Amino acid sequence: MDPRTCVIKKRIEGIKRIIAVAGGKGGIGKSLVSSVMALNLSNMGYRVGLLDLDFSGPSAHLILGTGRSTQPREEKGVIPPTVCGIKFFSLVFYSGKKPSPLRGIDISNIIKEILCITRWGELDVLVIDMPPGMGDAILDPISLMDAEFLVVTTPSLVSVGTVSKFLSFLEESGTPSLGVLENMRIKETSRNFFGADFLGSIKLDLDLEKALGKPEKLMQTKFSSELREIMEKVF
Ligand SMILES: Nc1ncnc2c1ncn2[C@@H]1O[C@H](COP(=O)(O)OP(=O)(O)O)[C@@H](O)[C@H]1O
Ligand SMILES: [Mg+2]
Repeated sequence: MDPRTCVIKKRIEGIKRIIAVAGGKGGIGKSLVSSVMALNLSNMGYRVGLLDLDFSGPSAHLILGTGRSTQPREEKGVIPPTVCGIKFFSLVFYSGKKPSPLRGIDISNIIKEILCITRWGELDVLVIDMPPGMGDAILDPISLMDAEFLVVTTPSLVSVGTVSKFLSFLEESGTPSLGVLENMRIKETSRNFFGADFLGSIKLDLDLEKALGKPEKLMQTKFSSELREIMEKVF
């Protein structure tokens, strides 16, 4: 029995819903969906947290445009800084610009340590920006949190193939799935998402890049308004 399991349960007991934004693959928009979802929830008056768990490519701090002064505070654990009304925690606070090449067991341990030390307090929603992949190292610690998975894909055959495996994995492990969000849509397609609920599509938005790092501009993008429509099905 790992004593951290009990500590983690205690640390998250004030959180009403935990949503893990995942998809198996990298580069499909998980970080954009997580960060813009957290911004929208905060604007809607929800008490929201955002946890960036991508070790090799943390991105949420770049999307939100956090400065160097944005740092967690230590007080009987770690208190996440508040960014645009969001309680935000990322490994980048500790790794900085250095790469973090980690073995599976190290990844699992670090995720557990983070979950043990972070004091989220009372939250309506904690959004987790998940790393690519579906290995045990990542998914085991997340399973301690009773998270619901929001699965992101792109219309590309290469992404849909991975998502189908990911959905099977969620079903076999009895992990709740909110459904599939199709990102970067270019034209009307009719994909079969293997019996999973289809939540909706977000189009490829060529104006997105210049809004990165500027939360107010991000909220005005088509990406954000299309995501809001999808969020109505989840919240
Ligand atoms: N709908 C979209 N339209 C245009 N660019 C997008 C869209 N969604 C994501 N992107 C861009 O694609 C890249 C990968 O997105 P990201 O959220 O980092 O993916 P992931 O977290 O899955 O690796 C980023 O440069 C992001 O700005
Ligand atoms: Mg990412």
